[in-house]
Amino acid sequence: MCGIVGCITKESTLEFLIDGLKELEYRGYDSAGLVILEANNSHIYKAIGKIVNLENKVGDFKTSGFSVGIAHTRWATHGKPTEINAHPHSGEISYIVHNGIIENYADIKKELGEEKFVSQTDTETIVHLFEHNLSIYENSLKAFEATIEALEGAYAILLITKSQNDTIYFAKKGSPLILGYSDNKDLFFASSESPLIGKAKEVSYLEDGDYGYISPKTVKIYNQKESKTLSKTKLPSNKQFAQKDGFRFFMEKELYEQSLVSSDTMIGRVKDDYIAFDEIDIALLEGIKEIKICACGTSYHAGLVASYLLQRVAKIRCSVEIASEFRYKEPLLSKDMLFVTISQSGETADTIEALKIAKLAGLKSLCICNVDNSTLIRLSDTSILTRAGIEKGVASTKAFTTQVIVLWMLSLYLAKHKNNISTDELKKHIKALLHTPRVLKVKSTTHEKLTRLSKRYLHGHGFFFIGRDIFYPLALEGALKLKELSYIHAEGYPSGEMKHGPIALADSELFTVALMSKNILYDKIKSNLEELIARDATTLAISPYKFDLSDDFIQIEEHDHEMLEFFEMLVIVQLFSMEIAVRLGNDVDMPRNLAKSVTVE
Ligand code: AGP
Repeated sequence: MCGIVGCITKESTLEFLIDGLKELEYRGYDSAGLVILEANNSHIYKAIGKIVNLENKVGDFKTSGFSVGIAHTRWATHGKPTEINAHPHSGEISYIVHNGIIENYADIKKELGEEKFVSQTDTETIVHLFEHNLSIYENSLKAFEATIEALEGAYAILLITKSQNDTIYFAKKGSPLILGYSDNKDLFFASSESPLIGKAKEVSYLEDGDYGYISPKTVKIYNQKESKTLSKTKLPSNKQFAQKDGFRFFMEKELYEQSLVSSDTMIGRVKDDYIAFDEIDIALLEGIKEIKICACGTSYHAGLVASYLLQRVAKIRCSVEIASEFRYKEPLLSKDMLFVTISQSGETADTIEALKIAKLAGLKSLCICNVDNSTLIRLSDTSILTRAGIEKGVASTKAFTTQVIVLWMLSLYLAKHKNNISTDELKKHIKALLHTPRVLKVKSTTHEKLTRLSKRYLHGHGFFFIGRDIFYPLALEGALKLKELSYIHAEGYPSGEMKHGPIALADSELFTVALMSKNILYDKIKSNLEELIARDATTLAISPYKFDLSDDFIQIEEHDHEMLEFFEMLVIVQLFSMEIAVRLGNDVDMPRNLAKSVTVE
């Protein structure tokens, strides 16, 4: 979840580093820093808190010509968020920024002698180890190779040194790193695409095990000491695409974009009477009798929705695992399982490690992801891109929606493949799929109503979101959105379970949001809600049918398909959480303690 940028430029190093760090803010961070080498002078600045604090430290320093620079936003994993622990970390003549975790840093630190260390970080061991190796090998590349070989864990590293002051050494294993090329021969690094938009025309996505160096007009890449070349791909050129477009927050923009991007997700895939996935080679499905889904957070909730659809529509057994649990439970796996990972970023450490376990057990794998060339995509046998576009709000919205749409399409694709669905039923689903973008369009009247009623829900001792069937994972997602954005405690719960304990909490300070589908078990959810109301709970009912007993009521359309109800309610719970967060004055795009991409466990 740290962010990295670096560059070699004729005159714009400082500008790229600062702008690049600002583009990475959405990943969540607690401190930042940069260092620039100009001739043999080094200029290093570090600050805790926001990037503006770093800019204040830089003051009116300017580069006066050719220079190399590296910079970093830190989300603390080893050592408190302090200036000393902020990157870059310094040796005598070298500087480093790093994303990931060095698992054997304590042993290295002991071998090198702890007296030379000033920080509590694992990262600082790398720069001291490099300089130790420099004294042995005399050649920087050999010293760098020996350093990388000694490291265990995950890393994306940029290192500069006065012993070669026009060069940036880099290494990538387990954390993302992209190399960008401009028309004027400037060279750039970044841990995600957005800092490169508008700077680099083409990019190369580094692979695990890649390392090497760049200097003016030279790019040398190695993997296991073998020289290699990287393919180049185009970057989106328009930075506006990743900007807010007039909305208050990236999250609000992305919430409103759900209608548009959901159409993109379906392009080329939803046909008149079947679903097409060009990405799926039918051999992938040979012998598959069960699907095991593995993910984290919101992506896990998408997986839970899929488990209902895959079993009901495709008649295929499906289980869903939380990646951080799956990794350590010694799971029973069989080769007739298709291992499906779901991830917005494709860089979630727990999900990556879970996939490695499945691959070791010989399972075939499919990744549903929003970021092309991400680690999960590159590790999977095949992948389906959700096409949600850059999602910068830490609280996921359009990524979740497009994940659910892909999974809905996948259940139809597999149902057809296994002859478990009639043409009429398939056409009903396709009709609903094609109607989904309209349902996802935010109604201004709904947004205004939620803005008003949010004022009543700013206190209380907690929230329940309750639902049945696919509305249970939606209840989990609604609760997570509220927790993430408002910092108020909320739980998603299967409504049938309330009487098995949670109803003891019912009183006027317990807020319950009920997701009442007319297509699935309406009478059951209605009576569950009435039990809570009878005990004076404060309730918000979201339902196609008028419901006068609740304190607040949001009416949705009377859709003839449960998935359309699902998506209309999703927009409501997303807006509800966002407006409560706004009233509380929280940082909607970068909630406290959270990161957009959890690249460490
Ligand atoms: C969602 O709002 C959260 N930011 C978080 O739960 C997220 O879904 C989770 O960390 C998984 O991330 P991924 O989809 O990138 O793997």
